[in-house]
Amino acid sequence: MSQGEFSVLFVCLGNLCRSPTAHAIFKHKVAKTALKVRVDSAGTSGFHAGSLPDRRTCEAGEKRGYSFKGQRSRPVSEEDFAQYDLILAMDQSNQDDLLARCPEEYQHKIQLFLEYAGHEQIEVPDPYYGGRRGFELVLDLVEQGCDGLIRKMKSSAP
Ligand code: 4NP
Repeated sequence: MSQGEFSVLFVCLGNLCRSPTAHAIFKHKVAKTALKVRVDSAGTSGFHAGSLPDRRTCEAGEKRGYSFKGQRSRPVSEEDFAQYDLILAMDQSNQDDLLARCPEEYQHKIQLFLEYAGHEQIEVPDPYYGGRRGFELVLDLVEQGCDGLIRKMKSSAP
């Protein structure tokens, strides 16, 4: 663990859809607990740096009560590997990209986010080129992953 509060970075490709969703949902759920966690999200690509989260992501998420306020896309930086305690990839390709860039000493921080959901689906599918149902599926899966992660954090809290 880093100094002070625990920190979690959610990572997808564009930091427009899946990781902003995880960022918003995890922040919302953590606020209802006594846990103190710093949360952020980033993309393995910098294609959309500075952009707001995807409009479809915000519309679907806001309907469920989540806020995307203050979020802007940014690429993963070298400092992230040292600074965050957990770096959670949305799919296998994101995880491979992170592992290829991450110094050896921090590789253990990089995990597949959905492993915390405890079921057979281990990837959050990219909804970017699909329809509305894909965004609802992202919300469903990310809610399950966040619930599992919070359960794990509560059970390992001192
Ligand atoms: P995300 O979705 O990785 O969940 O943010 C994508 C956003 C943008 C692109 C691909 C996926 N893109 O190719 O621009």
